Amino acid sequence: MAQNLIRLTYVSTLRPEISNADIDRLVSRAATFNKGQGITGVLAIDNQRVCQILEGTKEDVEQLFLSIRNDQRHHTVTEIETRAIETSSFEDWGMVRRDMVDMVIYALD
Ligand SMILES: Cc1cc2nc3c(=O)[nH]c(=O)nc-3n(C[C@H](O)[C@H](O)[C@H](O)COP(=O)(O)O)c2cc1C
Repeated sequence: MAQNLIRLTYVSTLRPEISNADIDRLVSRAATFNKGQGITGVLAIDNQRVCQILEGTKEDVEQLFLSIRNDQRHHTVTEIETRAIETSSFEDWGMVRRDMVDMVIYALD
């Protein structure tokens, strides 16, 4: 039974020294952590622009977002939408990388 689920979407800007390989490692660790927490979502990176959608219980997503906000690998973290949802739009993959254009489709969902 779904309880207290939210979807949080933010954008940010990666520090220029962060490589594609760094991002792949980050996503792989994030997937493991998120799965353990019942969080799922998607992440897109286009040059240095980041867009991420996180879904899970309000408490879990807000707590994770605090860590993400404080992460020095990116800056100008700007929450663009947080809303209550009935069910998750994503599979329980934890976190996956998607193209930025897919994020537009998800955002309009
Ligand atoms: C763009 C970006 C997205 C991130 N997404 C996640 C995520 O979905 N899940 C996660 O556990 N960590 C994610 N992280 C890493 C967290 O910011 C943080 O390093 C991790 O939660 C470990 O936190 P701690 O160092 O405070 O223990 C992300 C980092 C960045 C820069």
